[in-house]
Amino acid sequence: MIGSATPHESAQLHVSGGAHYADDINLPANTVHAAFGLSPVAHAHILNMDLSAVRAAPGVVAVCTAADIPGRNNYGGIQPDDPVFAENLVEYAGQSLFLVAANSYTAARRAARLAQADYETLPAILDIRSALAAQSYVMPSKRILRGEPTQALAEAAHRLHGSIDIGGQDHFYLEGQIAIAIPQEDDTILIHSSTQHPSEVQHMVGDVLGWPSHRINVQCRRMGGGFGGKESQPALLAAAAAVMARKTGRPVKLRLDRDDDMLLTGKRHDFLADYEAGFDDTGRIQALQVMMASRCGYSADLSSPVNDRAVCHIDNAYFLEHLDLVCHLCKTNTVSNTAFRGFGGPQGMLIIEQIVDEIARRLRLDPLTVRRRNYYGIDERNETHYGQIVEDNVLDTITDQLAASSGYERRRAGIAEFNAANPIIKRGIALTPVKFGISFNAVRYNQAGALLHIYTDGSVLLNHGGTEMGQGLYTKVAQVVAQELGLPLGAVRLSSTDTSKVPNTSATAASSGSDLNGKAAQAAAITLRERLTDFACRITPDLKPEQVRFADGHVELGEHSIGFKNLVALAYDARVQLSATGYYATPKIHWDREHLHGRPFFYFAYGAAVSEVAIDTLTGESQLLRTDILHDVGRSLNPAIDLGQIEGGFVQGMGWLTTEELVWNAHGELRTHAPSTYKIPTAREWPEHFDVRLLEHEPNREDTIHRSKAVGEPPLMLAISVLHAIRDAVAACGDGTAIPRLRAPATAEAVLGAVEGIRGDAR
Ligand code: MTE
Ligand code: MOS
Repeated sequence: MIGSATPHESAQLHVSGGAHYADDINLPANTVHAAFGLSPVAHAHILNMDLSAVRAAPGVVAVCTAADIPGRNNYGGIQPDDPVFAENLVEYAGQSLFLVAANSYTAARRAARLAQADYETLPAILDIRSALAAQSYVMPSKRILRGEPTQALAEAAHRLHGSIDIGGQDHFYLEGQIAIAIPQEDDTILIHSSTQHPSEVQHMVGDVLGWPSHRINVQCRRMGGGFGGKESQPALLAAAAAVMARKTGRPVKLRLDRDDDMLLTGKRHDFLADYEAGFDDTGRIQALQVMMASRCGYSADLSSPVNDRAVCHIDNAYFLEHLDLVCHLCKTNTVSNTAFRGFGGPQGMLIIEQIVDEIARRLRLDPLTVRRRNYYGIDERNETHYGQIVEDNVLDTITDQLAASSGYERRRAGIAEFNAANPIIKRGIALTPVKFGISFNAVRYNQAGALLHIYTDGSVLLNHGGTEMGQGLYTKVAQVVAQELGLPLGAVRLSSTDTSKVPNTSATAASSGSDLNGKAAQAAAITLRERLTDFACRITPDLKPEQVRFADGHVELGEHSIGFKNLVALAYDARVQLSATGYYATPKIHWDREHLHGRPFFYFAYGAAVSEVAIDTLTGESQLLRTDILHDVGRSLNPAIDLGQIEGGFVQGMGWLTTEELVWNAHGELRTHAPSTYKIPTAREWPEHFDVRLLEHEPNREDTIHRSKAVGEPPLMLAISVLHAIRDAVAACGDGTAIPRLRAPATAEAVLGAVEGIRGDAR
């Protein structure tokens, strides 16, 4: 059961259209459909808002503004700075002003556009550099100082300084944000939400309505993708829908269309960094000073933990002995940026990868050689800048195996020959590593619960606090339970995540879904198995617990065997409780948020990728020709699902670093709010040669669920190999010493600029 490549539990429903997403839920007859009215300006006082035309529009049932909120006008989970409806002040173009409900979806959307308002426009800060100049921050800056960076920099044999621009990314989940609020009797409410965080939706709806949590039930069977975009933001939709449901007494469905979704909701933080590095003749980094800054948007949202993770991943795979790292969290009049697969980690890692690449080019060494010289050691050079010892380092194992299986050395020589012969098309290759910390930095989120029932017919129903967004969590957890009870997978069913079944859950995030919920479900299954074992021993003379085995739908009782369901039926008759909860809290972790020090991560997940690209130096277009990946998932719970996560994460990361570009105009309006202007990868971007393998014989050294490792986020960062292969191809246009200046995403325009830049430098 564990380690078998069983398909995703909903695979057949997904491909046949049978899977129910929130939009597929059958609605009560008197449901109304809602749409937000959005702010057209980035920063202004609202002098007067006239919604009479909205109210008078055909089919309109009701309009809600801040004045209709009975509780607190906020859905911000960490800081109360996210209004459900702007009141007096708007802080970004696209912010929600009001909600209109009508008899149809189209009627609501048409009516939403009829609002009239007078604004007193205020100066808007739109980008990171302007925010830095104005010291406009959502939270105090963060700093880690380790060793003697100033002195070590002064003494270093070589120094370089530079900067990097890293773009943001829209989540582009196929299913957009949606909530359905259905009023129930006696001031209670049922909410269907497409959310990674049902408990937070519950708490925020409670805050907004002024109701205790036990009146609010939030359910989610599955999302059509979340990618971090459904950690904090679903609370906005659920709260707005709940306010409307309370006002009208009718069920409310609130589904954003794609443009509104992209305008209204936060994205991956864009970052920039200025750095200075000191290094020796071999390319080893001796000292590093980095100023990094992110665009948080108008409110805090998850920016503090996102930036903590960026700070914690500035090392990626490399030992940084002397470091001065400052991180600024910039407040801008743009949408509030949020969690996105990797959660700041990818941005931190991109900074150090560029630094290492530049060191290599300066010294005329292969970047892979310099990378390896800076890798964490096994018994020495193994402490991170935040004080955690890297105990499970498999970087050399992975790099050796991958370099060999992909023919890295040989192909690099071939590419040099190709480039010497081809003035227009240039090729490049890069092998980049990933080391990613697993656990939420905030220790309290590292807990989970499960509720397991065995019915008298022997069928098993499990509920846990994790949510399914396509990543295969339900499948993995079902495997865990089936394994403990010796049942076929089909005997175990998982029901929708539901705040009335398992309370106080964490977001399904930080890649820790199966680590946490797998262990909690296992604990519940062990409790029930032990109860059944005790019962079997009571009714069977001379039977000892160690002689009882659950396998293949049967229970072996010493010499005898009984069907699982027969034993269950007997246990029921004898009044044995057939329901249990399970609970898990990750051990060993601690984190001092003030000083950014501790052991925030239970363990690390590792991987590496080699990518080869070709660029057209006349158009700037690039094409990924080949990628080889070796990734560490410990002992895989399900290799089919893990491979899917690795492929999907890699391609999503490639989109972030190549074609997905967010453009705001000078008024702070997002110009890229639909697939017509925002280019995500498709099957055509899939490399012709794509070899993905799981690292073998390296079970997790920590006691995780069946010694597996989390896989949700780490593979996204394997795509850094694509950006660096493009850098390598751009570098091939120069004289061999010039350093490519290439921003991320490396769009055709950016690549063309970098090619022209390097040719200019070389001249
Ligand atoms: N895979 C799919 N198919 N859809 C998603 O939305 N989200 C990613 C990753 N893989 C996502 C996905 C993100 S951001 C995280 S944190 C993890 O899945 C969350 O699930 P897990 O903890 O169960 O891995
Ligand atoms: Mo993932 S960004 O932790 O939801």
